[in-house]
Amino acid sequence: MTDNSAKRQPRHFLSLLDLTTEELHRLLQRASELKQLLRSGEPHESLRGRTLAMVFEKSSTRTRISFEAGMAQLGGHAIFLSPRDTQLGRGEPIEDSARVMSRMVDCIMVRTYHQKDLELFAENSLVPVINALTDLLHPCQLLADMQTYIEHRGDIAGKTVTWVGDGNNMCHSYINAARQFDFKLNIACPQGYEPENQILSPATDHCQIIHDPMEAAQNADLVVTDVWASMGQEDEQTKRELAFANYQVNDELMQQADKDALFMHCLPAHRGEEVAASVIDRPDSVVWDEAENRIHSQKALLELLLL
Ligand code: CP
Ligand code: NVA
Repeated sequence: MTDNSAKRQPRHFLSLLDLTTEELHRLLQRASELKQLLRSGEPHESLRGRTLAMVFEKSSTRTRISFEAGMAQLGGHAIFLSPRDTQLGRGEPIEDSARVMSRMVDCIMVRTYHQKDLELFAENSLVPVINALTDLLHPCQLLADMQTYIEHRGDIAGKTVTWVGDGNNMCHSYINAARQFDFKLNIACPQGYEPENQILSPATDHCQIIHDPMEAAQNADLVVTDVWASMGQEDEQTKRELAFANYQVNDELMQQADKDALFMHCLPAHRGEEVAASVIDRPDSVVWDEAENRIHSQKALLELLLL
């Protein structure tokens, strides 16, 4: 543990736009190196003695395991904090929680609802804060998605990516990724479920909304989708099933895409809703590589923020 009390202005990762394009490319290269080191059993304990606090106000499988196992592999330690067990969950102010936690740990990962709460936490933290998903953004997932695309197909610059479904946190992060990695993003969403203007407006050079999913998928190099109702929207499930009925990624839609197109989904998935089983369960589906790459890319992120 380093003495954080004297430190100011830590580097945060609240959005993909918090890193430069060059930093993102270097991070992904390091992620692939870390993957090889792990596979060959070579120790890589660059964060020995460091501690990550993991604040989860929403459920998680991949994010929790990848950060916790990732810290262990780097020689450090992670502490899982759920709202049931912390004073934050009983109403201790975000500012105070951030001040206190950041006196004790080296990095803090937060999964919460409002991006503003995450920003407030980061403003009051003496150590780097990582966005592990908010209602607005899910930048850690995009690190894994970009690593996966590059490992399978090479550079994504100039390629066409088609987003099918809700204009949600994942869609917003794809919009930011289109800017950072210089690909074209076709967004196929129903009327009324478009991404937020604050995210889309600065990205109009790279992104367009095409409401018809078949048209949006034409010649795509990568097709991506996500659940129709995100965490916190469970009571809208029935309404959303109707609105998104024509937005399933199935074989017919994948046939519109390039013959070498990849399919990605951040998971968890609902087969028969946003994706057909025949697409996600293909032998060459990359969703499992995508999930695994969470650990490698986040280890590279932790190194970038902490070393
Ligand atoms: N994709 C993703 O973030 O999964 P979890 O919700 O399981 O962490
Ligand atoms: N859009 C989804 C992503 C889950 C990883 C959600 O926010 O629930």
